[in-house]
Amino acid sequence: MEKGLFPIERFQDIRTPFYYYDTQLLDQTLAAISQETSKHEGYHLHYAVKACANPKVLRHIKDAGMGADCVSGGEIQACLDAGFPAGEIVFAGVGKSDWEIELGLNAGIQYFNVESIPELEVINDIAARMGKTARVSFRINPNVGAHTHANITTGLAENKFGIAMEDMERVIAMAQSMSNVSFVGLHFHIGSQILEMNDFVDLSIRVNELQDRLNAQGIMVENINVGGGLGVDYADPNKNPIPDFKSYFDTYATYLKLRPGQHLHFELGRAVVCQCGSLVTRCLYVKKATHKQFVIVDGGMTDLIRPALYDAYHRIENITSTAAEETYDVVGPICESSDVFAKDYVMNGTKRGDIIVMRSAGAYGEIMASGYNCRPLPKGYVTEDLLG
Ligand code: LLP
Repeated sequence: MEKGLFPIERFQDIRTPFYYYDTQLLDQTLAAISQETSKHEGYHLHYAVKACANPKVLRHIKDAGMGADCVSGGEIQACLDAGFPAGEIVFAGVGKSDWEIELGLNAGIQYFNVESIPELEVINDIAARMGKTARVSFRINPNVGAHTHANITTGLAENKFGIAMEDMERVIAMAQSMSNVSFVGLHFHIGSQILEMNDFVDLSIRVNELQDRLNAQGIMVENINVGGGLGVDYADPNKNPIPDFKSYFDTYATYLKLRPGQHLHFELGRAVVCQCGSLVTRCLYVKKATHKQFVIVDGGMTDLIRPALYDAYHRIENITSTAAEETYDVVGPICESSDVFAKDYVMNGTKRGDIIVMRSAGAYGEIMASGYNCRPLPKGYVTEDLLG
């Protein structure tokens, strides 16, 4: 069954390593999201482009009617090129350069997620110079911890992201007194790869408290943006190819009290694209050492850095072998001892030339690739490239 997921014959002709995106699964995932968001009044999804900006993947997401969440001028440009309406693009990031702010203003993006007072001042100045008004939303650090990897939690007071809760009224008042910005919302994000719905409950409760506080002072907020963070099943992508969007959106519908007419924005990245993408590699050599055997593949940490950087687990499959299972360390060709995909991994008996895929690599895979060791960046193919 698993092997049937891939057009193996077509893989044989393509130089490895490369990314393969199963666009049938992507479209099913997008349909599942739309089905759930359409049940709730005022829910909008802005796909977090940082997860994967492959142009063909972006086009499917745009065609599904989603907006985009960008964190750089490059991402804004990639979205405009893919046909996303500028009015559906939001722009976040702790360090926006002047040219990126200008690009956002020129394109007419929906709003800037602002992360500091100095940034607010610069946006106001640039907008004034351009004769425009920037719509701004403030990223508030909700001091909510998420149960995930320490490197990818972002909502705690000690993180570099956002404005402290105690400064919230002050920054809103500042924005209201400035001539070229208009205050349109609040933005939150607590972390990534979150599978514990209670973390989103905690965030919802915090948002309710902050809204009560603002409403008591007569401040109304047009848009609430709760960021992204919904996780996926890395251990068993075949069992759970589509994340549990129903629980995710229902959690917010139950706990986050929207005011009449208010919009709730989401910035899911991983949950949208992770399961549809795989890194496809080829076994170069099987090397037997005293106590171990290594499968050395032609893809490495330059192509998929998550195992080296976060100790992340990706399911590995030899899709061209049915030989009895054996135990291997699966490693890449890079001159770094951290270039390891998995240790003591059990998979079908492997020989030179076999195709080995790293599953659940659609998010933070291709986009985080580097040219270290002067390696070419991996190409990305979608189903229609291979099957016509
Ligand atoms: N919104 C904001 C403000 C974010 O910082 C992020 C992710 C997202 C949305 C999308 O989060 P998602 O739905 O994908 O969890 N490279 C790491 C993940 C870094 C996530 C950074 N921020 C990894 O490979 O696991």
